Amino acid sequence: MGTVWFPQLAVSLFLAVLLGGALSPVGCLTFNFSEFQNKDTSQLFMINDTISRIFGGAIQVTPDSDGLDFNNTFGRVFHRKQFRLYGKSKGGTAAFNTTFTLNIKPKTSPGGEGIAFILAADKALPEASYGQWLGIVNATTNGSSQAKIVAVEFDTRKSYPEDLDDNHVGLNVNSIYSTKQVSLADCGVDLSSNVDVKVRVRYDGKNISVFVTQNGKGQGMLVLSLPLNLSQYLPEKVFVGFSASTSTYTELNCVRSWVFNGDDVGDDKNPELLWVWITVPALLVLCGIAFFFYLQRNHREQPEDAYPRIEDQIKGSSVAPRRFRLKELRKATGNFNPKNKLGRGGFGTVYKGFLENKEVAVKRVSKDSTQGKQEFIAEVTTIGNLHHKNLVKLIGWCYEKRDFLLVYEFMPNGSLDKFIYDYERLGNEESPTLGWEKRRIIVYGVAEALDYLHNGCEKRVLHRDIKASNIMLDSDFSAKLGDFGLARIVQQRGKDHHTTKEIAGTPGYMAPETFLISRATVETDIYAFGVLVLEVVCGRKPGNQNEDNDYNNGIVYWLWDLYRRERILDAVDSRLAGEFDEQGMVRMLVLGLACCHPNPHHRPCMKTVLQVLTGEAPLPPVPIERPSFVWPAMPQSFKQDPDISLIGSQLSPFTQLTGR
Ligand SMILES: *[C@@H]1O[C@H](CO)[C@@H](O)[C@H](O)[C@H]1NC(C)=O
Ligand SMILES: *[C@@H]1O[C@H](CO)[C@@H](O)[C@H](O)[C@H]1NC(C)=O
Ligand SMILES: *[C@@H]1O[C@H](CO)[C@@H](O)[C@H](O)[C@H]1NC(C)=O
Ligand SMILES: *[C@@H]1O[C@H](CO)[C@@H](O)[C@H](O)[C@H]1NC(C)=O
Ligand SMILES: *[C@@H]1O[C@H](CO)[C@@H](O)[C@H](O)[C@H]1NC(C)=O
Ligand SMILES: *[C@@H]1O[C@H](CO)[C@@H](O)[C@H](O)[C@H]1NC(C)=O
Ligand SMILES: *[C@@H]1O[C@H](CO)[C@@H](O)[C@H](O)[C@H]1NC(C)=O
Ligand SMILES: *[C@@H]1O[C@H](CO)[C@@H](O)[C@H](O)[C@H]1NC(C)=O
Repeated sequence: MGTVWFPQLAVSLFLAVLLGGALSPVGCLTFNFSEFQNKDTSQLFMINDTISRIFGGAIQVTPDSDGLDFNNTFGRVFHRKQFRLYGKSKGGTAAFNTTFTLNIKPKTSPGGEGIAFILAADKALPEASYGQWLGIVNATTNGSSQAKIVAVEFDTRKSYPEDLDDNHVGLNVNSIYSTKQVSLADCGVDLSSNVDVKVRVRYDGKNISVFVTQNGKGQGMLVLSLPLNLSQYLPEKVFVGFSASTSTYTELNCVRSWVFNGDDVGDDKNPELLWVWITVPALLVLCGIAFFFYLQRNHREQPEDAYPRIEDQIKGSSVAPRRFRLKELRKATGNFNPKNKLGRGGFGTVYKGFLENKEVAVKRVSKDSTQGKQEFIAEVTTIGNLHHKNLVKLIGWCYEKRDFLLVYEFMPNGSLDKFIYDYERLGNEESPTLGWEKRRIIVYGVAEALDYLHNGCEKRVLHRDIKASNIMLDSDFSAKLGDFGLARIVQQRGKDHHTTKEIAGTPGYMAPETFLISRATVETDIYAFGVLVLEVVCGRKPGNQNEDNDYNNGIVYWLWDLYRRERILDAVDSRLAGEFDEQGMVRMLVLGLACCHPNPHHRPCMKTVLQVLTGEAPLPPVPIERPSFVWPAMPQSFKQDPDISLIGSQLSPFTQLTGR
């Protein structure tokens, strides 16, 4: 019975959490960072994490290290949770107090440009908002009510005549020009002196006041106080955070601590105690009912809105995909007309559709697949929060009557496999051959997407099923990686057996260790990427080399053999008719082999792969003979590779999946 009870208990708890979420005051935002640590990225969001980062106990809103060019940088950092400025029924604007410590270290003399505390409708950083713009607005959005941003600026450079001096605080509303600015020189504060400047911003719903003190003494001196109706300029929910910029005058813009206390203007008017007394028992009863409900209806159809908060949960982020009604999607796809079918995967069928005169791809998840609503939510939230030019964009979703649907952007050229495999034998000669340059760009695009999934987004995401049919091609043949998140769901199917069934993936793309460790890792993704590279260059399926009596990884064995015989170029797709640069081609093939190294510790990471592709890094060494697969795999020795990752002075056994 145990295996049956566990998921039900989990579902009930999940429901309880959702209901709890529904009842807790949403607008209330309070936090206290007395310093910053890397793990705080779970609460803080760096708009561009190559620019902004947590380092040395502080948020560096613009960077100071790693040989980055400091010139013309601009960044924004926000708390992930939005602050509710006003409630629908209650009216009035929420009050808040926030205290933070700034530390600005000039890199040029004088430094530039400054940092600001911001309340913004939109997380996005306006393009080209470096220099005088402080990441607040840019030349287009400056002065426009569409900017929807209020900032308290700490300006360290007099960048235009209206700027008072190079050491002032100002209040900016939708503009880089301050409504009011005050020089800090008179208060004995020098922003650009590499010392801690403590700032308190108080908003009581009517007036905004700014207090500043150097060296953290006392409560600070009132430097600025102005009447301000925030709800006149900002939407109901805002992001709070910091923005900063440099120009050719540069400085390190740091925030070393940050406390925020916001009022609750939720629509609840009940006194707090009453609220607790009513909701806690109600919550318990609801949990009981929910638990009972799930016991009863384990395998039966679930009513549509059993999870009242799912939509809210998904909608939480400002860039979240949209929810569609089943009706709309039926209409868009001609009631899932087989004529509109684009393809069929293990997971469901994809239809072409028209929504608001735009072509879309609608994936209808098979009803008989065993995945549940939670996995569906995981998919939607994961994909919805990932944004990269080389990832297929999720536009929306629908969950109705046990129908799970995902709406993606439409990829006019379909999937890559149609182009690279030699279909002549299959009598399909329609697809044009992709030239070398196009193939190179496709590989680079996939590498960028994978690097983003592994290293670039908030939480590491493993793709788990990289293969040619999951690479979609846009109208210009640029590659977009699709179907991420799905493999994880497919994986759930074999759960009751502790066999290789648990492993998601496609034979031919699976790293040799997959069968032993029974899970996906960063390294197994990289292996599959390596196989993909070889396929794209050779125009062959990964496992169909009849000439060798190889079992699984045909293409890898075949190529390694050619590599040993120094005839690797023989592998290149004959349809390229020799039109390619040989050096680049060899580099690509050897890189593919490096990714398919039997020892996962020897595979390059995606960062290195990208650097090799751009020529910034040399090819990793690849032995002439394919090393045999040994398990457990030995880590590389220190001598061989000084860059090997060390975790707590121990060699990391495997890259950990940090979940998502
Ligand atoms: C924030 O946390 C620090 C250390 O945990 C504590 O000393 C400080 O009083 C807290 N500040 C506020 C305003 O709660
Ligand atoms: C982040 O900043 C880097 C360095 O300025 C830039 O090259 C990159 O395009 C930025 N990324 C985004 C998503 O804006
Ligand atoms: C902000 O601080 C003031 C005085 O320190 C206090 O009266 C007020 O209640 C605080 N407001 C909030 C929302 O914490
Ligand atoms: C200002 O930012 C917006 C949004 O990022 C962008 O569309 C616009 O082109 C930018 N303007 C300039 C002058 O860069
Ligand atoms: C920015 O906008 C303000 C109006 O808010 C305008 O007065 C000013 O000229 C603009 N500045 C620049 C540099 O465009
Ligand atoms: C807001 O500030 C103005 C001027 O600084 C002052 O006259 C007024 O009393 C303040 N209002 C509140 C509610 O504090
Ligand atoms: C603030 O502005 C909003 C929207 O313009 C308005 O509804 C509200 O009455 C204003 N509040 C005050 C105190 O003026
Ligand atoms: C940054 O700008 C300064 C001044 O124009 C220039 O001297 C310096 O070389 C620039 N730095 C880089 C890395 O481009």
